[in-house]
Amino acid sequence: MAYFEKIKKFGVNGFVPEGWYWLMRSDEVKRGKAYPAKFLTIDLVLYRGEDDQVRAFDAHCPHMGAHLCDGFVEGNSIRCPFHFWKYDELGKCSEIPAQKEIGNMPGLKSHKVREAYGLIWLWTGHEEDTEQVPVVPELVGIPLDSKLGSNFVKNCHPNVVMINAIDIQHFRSVHQLIVDLDMKVTPLTDRCIQFSNITPMPEKNAILKFAKKFYKSALTYEMTYWWGHTGSVMVGPDFLHFYIIFALRPTLDGKTEGQTILVTKKRKGLMGLLVNPILLFATKLVGDYFAKGDTIIFTRINFKYQTPIRADKAIIDFVEHYERQNEATKYSQFQAVPKKETVNS
Ligand code: FES
Ligand SMILES: [Fe+2]
Repeated sequence: MAYFEKIKKFGVNGFVPEGWYWLMRSDEVKRGKAYPAKFLTIDLVLYRGEDDQVRAFDAHCPHMGAHLCDGFVEGNSIRCPFHFWKYDELGKCSEIPAQKEIGNMPGLKSHKVREAYGLIWLWTGHEEDTEQVPVVPELVGIPLDSKLGSNFVKNCHPNVVMINAIDIQHFRSVHQLIVDLDMKVTPLTDRCIQFSNITPMPEKNAILKFAKKFYKSALTYEMTYWWGHTGSVMVGPDFLHFYIIFALRPTLDGKTEGQTILVTKKRKGLMGLLVNPILLFATKLVGDYFAKGDTIIFTRINFKYQTPIRADKAIIDFVEHYERQNEATKYSQFQAVPKKETVNS
């Protein structure tokens, strides 16, 4: 059997693993107003109540289907623009102006959302929320400063864009990197996998020899993936690591919408005021390099992984880890994963 015939989910449009997906910028959702939002086939209404919490419900009113983004936020509730039915903060129908009793009127289906790094994230998995929004592993538990970087669209599936960060062959060919990377693979959970470079800085010339002094052992380059769609990169010398989160999501027509998030440690006082903006700007340059580096390839690629070789080991580990992840069973309206015919090789 050819390798690509074993791949049922990776890079396949319609498969959405359980996870957090970025939805909107936090600053787009002002208190007391309702907004439409869409993730694949899911139409949502989002609003920020008087308690500052963002809530997300199915967009259309169960009475006659008006879009609730045209309605009114009242406290932490929302009122439909059409016949003024009101739904409370849990989506329960709490008022029908034309009649006294509410009875068992259907409410709004609620969706789990969370704010982090200046983005609103939507949970696509089962009800029980056991996972956190992606993190920078090295900075867990440390106060952070973050800033949203670039926003981009790529003409292929998010999984394919994500390969880029561990595709050792292309670092040499496309980016002319003179360092040979070799990735140690560590699956952290069923949905999270980490790739860390283990090769040292080569001493090929005086500049590299000098740069090597800033790395105790291997050249630091680490990528941690969640659900094959969002990844956090750590790169840089021992005294100064740069951190970028790439938050990607699929579109119905097989494209990728991405957002980079620049992260650094919170620094106190003048240090924080002066140094952090410079560091975050430098991080943005690193992020843009990753995000824009292969634009032409991602415009025309028709992803079909037919002939993996030994140098692709990290990619194969990534693909196989992803193949074992659960579909978001909550969203039955997603297209089913297209069946591929099995051909014996
Ligand atoms: S459509 Fe919403 S109250 Fe009638
Ligand atoms: Fe690249």
